[in-house]
Amino acid sequence: MKLFDVYPLNDITIVKAEGSYVWDDTNQKYLDLYGGHAVISIGHTHPHYVKRLEDQLHKVGFYSNSIKIPLQVELAEKLGKVSGKEAYQLFLCNSGAEANENALKLASFYNGRKKIITFKKGFHGRTSLAVAVTDNPNIVAPVNQTDNVIFLPFNDEQSLENAFAQNDVSSVIVEGIQGVGGINVASNTFLQKIRSLCDQYNAVFIADSVQCGYGRSGKFYAHDYSGVDADIYTMAKGMGNGFPVGAISISPKIQPKHFMLGTTFGGNHLACAAALAVLEIIQQDELIKNAEVVGNYLMTELKKLSHIKEVRGVGLMIGIELPEELKMVKRNLLYNHKIFTGEAKPNVIRLLPALNISTLEADIFLAALVKELKDI
Ligand SMILES: Cc1ncc(COP(=O)(O)O)c(C=O)c1O
Repeated sequence: MKLFDVYPLNDITIVKAEGSYVWDDTNQKYLDLYGGHAVISIGHTHPHYVKRLEDQLHKVGFYSNSIKIPLQVELAEKLGKVSGKEAYQLFLCNSGAEANENALKLASFYNGRKKIITFKKGFHGRTSLAVAVTDNPNIVAPVNQTDNVIFLPFNDEQSLENAFAQNDVSSVIVEGIQGVGGINVASNTFLQKIRSLCDQYNAVFIADSVQCGYGRSGKFYAHDYSGVDADIYTMAKGMGNGFPVGAISISPKIQPKHFMLGTTFGGNHLACAAALAVLEIIQQDELIKNAEVVGNYLMTELKKLSHIKEVRGVGLMIGIELPEELKMVKRNLLYNHKIFTGEAKPNVIRLLPALNISTLEADIFLAALVKELKDI
């Protein structure tokens, strides 16, 4: 059997990782400012994380949601505290798409409606509803197409008002900072408008925090900058630092009924141990503060550089838009300077480092970028 070939690959095999560094099979070291797509939140192979998972594996790795799992209760309490949403309720699943799928479904159960508002350049995952609310026709199969989804321009308050007036809206799903779409930050007034319209029409505000959440922006959820609460926050990626775990945090106004949601693997013992280890390190090492400080530093320094079209983002979610003629810079950073970064089409370099990246490591990247821009 061979692999189903859906990814263009870099010819690199990573065999070791620690903190913000990874090593390939020739022992070449790389600085990782990508975290395997915003997944590495507390650094690779963090000792506390490794120990907590190892200890848990020796006790019990998995049992289904037919029994009590105190680790889930511990995780709910901790997440409530660290995220500042203690009255919210936790439902655990395994990925970002699954979190969004559950959120959209729950919203529809809540108000009995079907229409979903989503935004241009948004990305919410690859499963049925998640991909239907994603703005990329290339990944929407005919079977995923539905009339229940309304695409609006991002940060456009007037079109939002019009859409609410004309439709029976169930929910609005929005990233606090669009990731795959190229690092576009939702304005505070836009998120406040979503809140007030959802209140007015009894619709559900779903904050997709899969990429921009878990402290990456310098607040626990990027949406927190707006000062309003969403009804459901969806999360995954940084939540498990590489262990597949996702979740939705649900406002107390939405009441559960038995069997309305469910999962086999979601919230298993190992997943909870991983998620708890991440929150413990985020809290203990004040990583949300570090994301803000190092993020601000990077943004300030990047804005001083010439040749760059635009620098966008908040905290450690940064997009560097380059002119078309400089699109090779990302590749050069990897092959000439051994630095992993992310990208967004067509020419945006995406920085998504671990939240405990140091300014020293940020400087290594800045020096490499300066050199690349100079050479051009
Ligand atoms: C904002 C956002 N939502 C949802 C997803 C889907 O997450 P997953 O790949 O874990 O299904 C992603 C993945 O990139 C994402 O960036």
